[in-house]
Amino acid sequence: MKKKIGMLWATAVALMMGISTANAQVKVPENITALMNKYTCSACHRVDARLVGPAYTDVAKKKYTNEKIVELIYKPEPANWPGYPPMVPMPQVPKEDALTLAKYINSLAPKAAAKK
Ligand code: HEC
Repeated sequence: MKKKIGMLWATAVALMMGISTANAQVKVPENITALMNKYTCSACHRVDARLVGPAYTDVAKKKYTNEKIVELIYKPEPANWPGYPPMVPMPQVPKEDALTLAKYINSLAPKAAAKK
């Protein structure tokens, strides 16, 4: 029993470390992190890793226009991501902020290409 709890802790610590190093590696701009936390995007998305939703670097590979990404935030199309649960529509995100997030996601495209 004691061993099991120890393992749980190890997993929790590894998870937390994983999250903080992911942030350190990609250096997400502060205003973007703030928006992602404000609108809870970060609950389901990491910049460069699959979480509940796809990594933003993978979204960037789809080469959407910024406007299309804004549309997809308001009205997700789960058919674009087989194997993922559907994303909740987020019409509460003001257009300006959605566009800022969209531009950031698309700015990851060169990085996504380099990773291939
Ligand atoms: C409750 C979890 C959850 C939250 C919160 C969430 N997403 Fe998603 N997101 C997903 C999942 C799952 C997918 C893949 C399935 C889909 O598109 O419906 C996805 C897909 C996406 C896509 C790709 C759309 C496409 O069709 O290619 C973008 C862009 C995106 N999310 C951006 C955001 C942004 C920006 C926010 C915050 C405003 C956000 N998401 C919040 C879970 C989430």
